Amino acid sequence: MGEWINKFKKLLCALGEANETEKMIPIKGAHISGVSYRNIGDVGREFLYDVVSEGLKVRVHTTCNPGYTKEGEEDLQDRIYHNFIMLGCEESFTCTPYYLNRKIKCGDVLSWAESSAVVYANSVLGVRTNRESGITALASAILGYTPLYGLLRSEERRPWVRIKIKWRDIDEKKAGLLGYYIGEKIGRVPFIEGILLTEEEFKYLGAAIATASDISIVHVKGLTKEHKWASKYEMHTIEMKGEELREVEEKLSQTEGGEAVILGCPHLSFNELREIAEATSQIRRVKKRALLFTSRAVYSTALSMGYIEKLRRKGFEIYTDSCVMCKYVEELEEVYTNSVKAAFYLYNRMGIRSCLKSTREIIQEVLLG
Ligand code: F3S
Repeated sequence: MGEWINKFKKLLCALGEANETEKMIPIKGAHISGVSYRNIGDVGREFLYDVVSEGLKVRVHTTCNPGYTKEGEEDLQDRIYHNFIMLGCEESFTCTPYYLNRKIKCGDVLSWAESSAVVYANSVLGVRTNRESGITALASAILGYTPLYGLLRSEERRPWVRIKIKWRDIDEKKAGLLGYYIGEKIGRVPFIEGILLTEEEFKYLGAAIATASDISIVHVKGLTKEHKWASKYEMHTIEMKGEELREVEEKLSQTEGGEAVILGCPHLSFNELREIAEATSQIRRVKKRALLFTSRAVYSTALSMGYIEKLRRKGFEIYTDSCVMCKYVEELEEVYTNSVKAAFYLYNRMGIRSCLKSTREIIQEVLLG
């Protein structure tokens, strides 16, 4: 066991050195990515098995990303999940850990590794976490600390560009396009004003900005935790009228239709599941195959309130512990989605083209017909 502890200590020291610090700081929680068999392969699976065999356990509340499983790889993926549970991780595999652990408080230091969750946590919850890799988050989960660098320091959380939004209407798709545009074209921590975003819409913006860049915090006037503090910085100002997003949309929305609807990248919140159930309550069955991805925690709340049953009766397929890039999606060629992150990865990793629309448009135009 001692040998493995030393290896993890060395890893965190090296991470500290690379970021010019020797100081370590205790963490309140960790979130591990790199959970998919398709990502980590046999080498990663055996590494994890060795760590578990040594009897190591996580010291802080730890959650894990979902895997994306190919047909025939289910057993290998299940063994990976089992080993994370043996390590003491929560038995729920989701990219929205912020919907699970409501004990997280503003200012808490975490070691999280899922890029979309890192943006959400830093921005909406006001916690402090860098965008860790799966292995550094695992090391921190086991040791209970992380090097004091990057977004754990106040000065690194400041915004550099004030973005004044000059249009009013926003939805998940536009929020995602805006996030991708900022990440790709502006590339610095933004302070966004002039638009009212819900936490769910922010989720799509954050996931997209993290897809296009390494930005891990976004300040939005009226929404994010540190927006008042952030607004006081001198910043270069950019005005956006909306047409800037057209180029991003043309790049990521490559088709006019789709064989199925994919929602839940990042995983759907309870509010989103409820809204989909309510918006489709008047029809007998959805007109297109529709796959919803969520976490176990959200699923069980929705189940207890009758929404899962309602959705299933309409024909929705609902998956937990699974990323959208999974065996249920891989046979498709074209899909509808509201998520810019999904559109990017489905195309770049699986060759699946997306038709980007807001959730409301998908329900009205595709599912209700
Ligand atoms: Fe989650 Fe997979 Fe999307 S991990 S954020 S559903 S790419």
